[in-house]
Amino acid sequence: MTADLVRLREQLAAQVTVADPAVGAALRSVPRHLFLPGIPPENAYRDEAIVTKRDASGTPVSSSSQPAIMAIMLDQLALAPGHRVLEVGAGTGYNAALIREIVGPQGQVTSVDIDPEVAAAATEHLAAAGYPDVTVAAVDGAEGFAGHAPYDRLIATVGVSDLTPSWLSQVTADALIVVPLDVHGVQLSVAFGRSGGHWASRSISPCGFMRMRGPNAGSAAVLTLAPGLRLQLREPREVDPAAVAAALAAPPAAAEPTSASGGPRLYWGLNLWLAVRDPRSCGLAEERVPGQQPRLAGMPLSSHLFHATYGIVSDAGGIALLLGKEDSELVATGFGPDGAALATDLAAQVWAWAAAGRPETAGLHVDAYPRSQADQPPAAHMLVERPHTRFAVYHA
Ligand SMILES: C[S@@+](CC[C@H](N)C(=O)[O-])C[C@H]1O[C@@H](n2cnc3c(N)ncnc32)[C@H](O)[C@@H]1O
Repeated sequence: MTADLVRLREQLAAQVTVADPAVGAALRSVPRHLFLPGIPPENAYRDEAIVTKRDASGTPVSSSSQPAIMAIMLDQLALAPGHRVLEVGAGTGYNAALIREIVGPQGQVTSVDIDPEVAAAATEHLAAAGYPDVTVAAVDGAEGFAGHAPYDRLIATVGVSDLTPSWLSQVTADALIVVPLDVHGVQLSVAFGRSGGHWASRSISPCGFMRMRGPNAGSAAVLTLAPGLRLQLREPREVDPAAVAAALAAPPAAAEPTSASGGPRLYWGLNLWLAVRDPRSCGLAEERVPGQQPRLAGMPLSSHLFHATYGIVSDAGGIALLLGKEDSELVATGFGPDGAALATDLAAQVWAWAAAGRPETAGLHVDAYPRSQADQPPAAHMLVERPHTRFAVYHA
């Protein structure tokens, strides 16, 4: 290993260090560039997600996730030497190697990926990087991997909408399960631990993963408005993508000030606020194309992969979005025939969120009640209903 690679790894670990020192040590040990062959090492050690496979339409289907969010999720997972761990979504195999570093040779790491080509590549990367004892299997992770159960820890590194019965039956009594859970179109990394007949959230962090593929993917509530431009609805609804695209192509109908501004984490709080209060809430994301300006000026969130913002969309295809560069005032901007009314409603939600102290995920709970159990969520909580689980979402 050259001094340059060691320095790059040290820099990455310093950028994303979290509470658990074992996670930082793993980031310093695992050679991420060996999991991203073909990517220059200086790029492999950036704190960025790197897309490694796309489908025929160009949509990303596999990636190495952003190290910062991997570190947060490993922190949530509270790993210890000797743990038996199942990862759903092997991808490049990098995260499985981080886990293997922490659980050590007495532990056991199994990682599954629905894509045989991805699983084969992950196996090669893990062997090349010195982790041949990590098992990678090409199966639908929704079924877990019964062969190596029971697991002390289960982590999904792909967006899920439910906790499957296989996962719950393949983990130990005091297991932790950490998954990127879709809560009305907002993804939250939730660490669940058993609490009697249900699972209580132990910690929650914002995150953004690609959705799970396969029969347990849940209903897609994502509309493609144009190549690379996607609208995420709260739940599946009849919204005409062509009408929304046409509304966005015309000049705005209204712009309402909100006096809210702030860095990217604040938008998570606002997005979550909208998602649990207005059934019309939505997120708009445009993939970044090098050298091209986004279609819509002023989307406040941007990474090297996406520009994004939030808002509300009507059944008629009108839409109001929060626009305004990071740290400048957000303007509720309405498009389409009902754009002015939508902009007023959206601005009112932002004012209400600001008046409530701009809550983010702190104090938020997402408890999971498997339908197979007698435990029922309290009626007062907002419920997210999924095939196997009722999720109760509340602040406490
Ligand atoms: C964001 S990547 C995982 C990143 C990975 N942990 C890493 O360290 O590189 C998500 C992966 O989940 C896989 N996936 C999607 N649906 C799945 C499913 N139902 N079961 C298992 N894997 C799935 C995709 O093929 C993709 O490789």
